[in-house]
Amino acid sequence: MTFVRFGVIGCGNAGSFHVISCKDSPESPVRFVAAHDANEKTLARFSKVHKLNPYTDLDKFLGSDIDAVLLSVPHYLHATLAERVAAAGKHILCEKPMATTLEECDRMVAAAKRASVKFMIAENHRFLPAHRLIKDVVQRGLIGDVFLGRAYEGAFVPSRVFLDPDNWQFTYDKGGGGVVADQGCHKFATLNWMLGEVDKAECWLGKALNSPATKGEDCAIVLLRYKSGALITVDVSSVTVHPLTNRLELHGTKGTILEDHAWESPVSIFSSHEQAEKKGEFYSPKVEHGVYPKYYLISAREEDTHFADCILNDRTPDFTPEQAKQAVAVTLLSYLSAKKGSAAAMSELEAIAKTKGTKSVLAGLENAVQRNYDGMRWS
Ligand SMILES: NC(=O)c1ccc[n+]([C@@H]2O[C@H](COP(=O)([O-])OP(=O)(O)OC[C@H]3O[C@@H](n4cnc5c(N)ncnc54)[C@H](O)[C@@H]3O)[C@@H](O)[C@H]2O)c1
Repeated sequence: MTFVRFGVIGCGNAGSFHVISCKDSPESPVRFVAAHDANEKTLARFSKVHKLNPYTDLDKFLGSDIDAVLLSVPHYLHATLAERVAAAGKHILCEKPMATTLEECDRMVAAAKRASVKFMIAENHRFLPAHRLIKDVVQRGLIGDVFLGRAYEGAFVPSRVFLDPDNWQFTYDKGGGGVVADQGCHKFATLNWMLGEVDKAECWLGKALNSPATKGEDCAIVLLRYKSGALITVDVSSVTVHPLTNRLELHGTKGTILEDHAWESPVSIFSSHEQAEKKGEFYSPKVEHGVYPKYYLISAREEDTHFADCILNDRTPDFTPEQAKQAVAVTLLSYLSAKKGSAAAMSELEAIAKTKGTKSVLAGLENAVQRNYDGMRWS
């Protein structure tokens, strides 16, 4: 086998950028060949545009000659559909966040293990060339021990998505919460990769739009303390007004890294380390990049190619389900803190997981959201 035949479940935004990102590369080991969606019109349109075999019936789709499935569906469906895909013996690439609770994450891991299929969460930030460069710089010690940092995820989403009560995104029941669950997970997965495990979180949730009560926060601040001692601020919003971007700033004992995906050259490094490319002055190494939407397509291509490569060569994916679960844990820890109105330790979340279950963290979360929209003029 020289390529992997992928089918897509969920023909929306994410499904589109995955299919588009790989299709112009004839040597790619990724071939999207089939699609399934609960909405027949969406399925017909998507399959026609991308020249895929449409399946209205999930069992027939899973019984077809696909090797792997990209799951790009609402978050509350990730666990159940991953179990269906695994039971059909197909490899699973599932969009972020892994799931809405830690128990769902465990179900997904167990299903993949039972079926001996490859399983990876499509966390595109783990595959962004700029983030890989930063990880390498941190790992090589070029900025020394990281003690402080700041991360920003600003994925602008049209306000109608927040205001529409029928849209699943950012809802408590289908999305697992607002922007911390939907967007913060990118930052948590990236920061954990570079800095290790989170020890404590403190979080504030806000609404700048007067969205329905079923919808979670549209902006938030999370303060993280890592076990290493590093103190990090994570700001996240989907209503800030600018083209989609994300930022990272890390400060260590030997230097600083500044990153913004809105920049043509997204990473700037200052280092006093002997092995720095340019010691004692800011420099910007070359990485494959283009402002949004290009960097998204690059990251989707990289993650899909990596997953296909793991299937073809029987390798373990670089981003493991355990790491993806840790990102969900930081989301839930942030929500736990917002509900308490004070910092929450990871050990508290672990205790909840062992007793009443982590779904309980989402219950009543709407009462922890500060409403900022009165008097705000959006139009
Ligand atoms: N990596 C990223 O930056 C990024 C960007 C966007 C979305 N996502 C993720 O991708 C996933 C999907 O998000 P989206 O924005 O594409 O959502 P979307 O609403 O645009 O698309 C979801 C699709 O799933 C279909 N669907 C719903 N229930 C289904 C079911 N039971 N069976 C089959 N199909 C079903 C819907 O009809 C819809 O077409 C989410 O996990 C989201 O967080 C990731």
